[in-house]
Amino acid sequence: MRAVVTGGAGFVGSHLCERLVTLGHDVVCVDNFATGRRENVARLLRGPRFHLIEQDVSEALEVDGEIDALFHLASPASPADYLRLPVETLKVGSLGTLNALELARAKGARFLISSTSEVYGDPEVHPQPEGYWGNVNPIGPRSVYDEAKRFGEAATMAYRRTYGVATTIVRIFNTYGPRMRRDDGRAVPAFITQALAGDPMTVTGDGGQTRSLCYVDDLVEGLVTALEQSHPGPVNLGNPHEVSMRRLALVVKEICESTSPLSFVPRPEDDPQVRRPDIARATAELGWSPRTELAEGLRRTVAWFRLTDPVPPAARLSPPEPYRLRHEMAAAR
Ligand SMILES: NC(=O)c1ccc[n+]([C@@H]2O[C@H](COP(=O)([O-])OP(=O)(O)OC[C@H]3O[C@@H](n4cnc5c(N)ncnc54)[C@H](O)[C@@H]3O)[C@@H](O)[C@H]2O)c1
Repeated sequence: MRAVVTGGAGFVGSHLCERLVTLGHDVVCVDNFATGRRENVARLLRGPRFHLIEQDVSEALEVDGEIDALFHLASPASPADYLRLPVETLKVGSLGTLNALELARAKGARFLISSTSEVYGDPEVHPQPEGYWGNVNPIGPRSVYDEAKRFGEAATMAYRRTYGVATTIVRIFNTYGPRMRRDDGRAVPAFITQALAGDPMTVTGDGGQTRSLCYVDDLVEGLVTALEQSHPGPVNLGNPHEVSMRRLALVVKEICESTSPLSFVPRPEDDPQVRRPDIARATAELGWSPRTELAEGLRRTVAWFRLTDPVPPAARLSPPEPYRLRHEMAAAR
């Protein structure tokens, strides 16, 4: 098979490219390095089965030759990134998705879009099944990402209904693993960075809000399986094991053998209180479920951070002073 992966130099994309090459496929990665890194695919570039096209998919997407599958992952994904790149995020979710769909249509390729649990917004239904339509603030700061992904899903369905493109929509829940960027604003790399540096671990709010974290290898297996089976979706891919942010910080602290204190800082606007996928559809219809325990996945991630990414002092996060002190005192009581 010859596959195109947009966003293939990012965190998830680079693991997906690696898996596809390992399975014996030829891979064309299209990325503009908005949030990805060349190092993520450096090893792949040395092999014959991997090709890199440096291109903004919102501008144009042209790939010569036959294509059997197109995985459309290009998009800033972490809140820090999409809040920094609001217009680019809207463009890649809309124009970029239309360009990717056109390419899939022209080549007769299967198409998979990596949508997100953020289409559910701050959910009133918990856990979230695919039939839930969501509770999204259309004008809040996060809407640039949430609404771009919702548009991407609508465009994907329009190409399926109108042109018969074999499309798959997957909704990815929080994923973690090696190659996350320290400064991408997500909890796992932030906690690991802080714990390894011995800095305070900044937990937002009271740390009672939950996330469900899926190890990247499990997610990649789900992406490949969903596309191979041409499942139309939407299908949730994530790990239903729910963990509070406070608990996550403590597990990371233990794995890093750190003495860092927890420090409580304000929560960002529209930050969801709970997040857990209902993966009944993925289990029943794809035969997929995640296999990696949280502690095991975190151990592998910490090992990667220790080896490959020394802590730059500038990346250390310091919470606002008065708030931190107030909450540290409250936590100590
Ligand atoms: N990681 C998660 O927890 C998670 C959760 C839900 C959904 N997703 C989705 O999975 C996909 C990958 O996420 P990730 O965590 O690997 O993020 P990432 O930022 O590491 O990777 C995204 C990649 O897309 C590239 N990109 C962005 N805009 C582009 C453009 N206009 N043209 C070409 N390339 C562009 C970036 O350079 C980067 O390499 C995204 O679509 C994201 O929305 C991820």
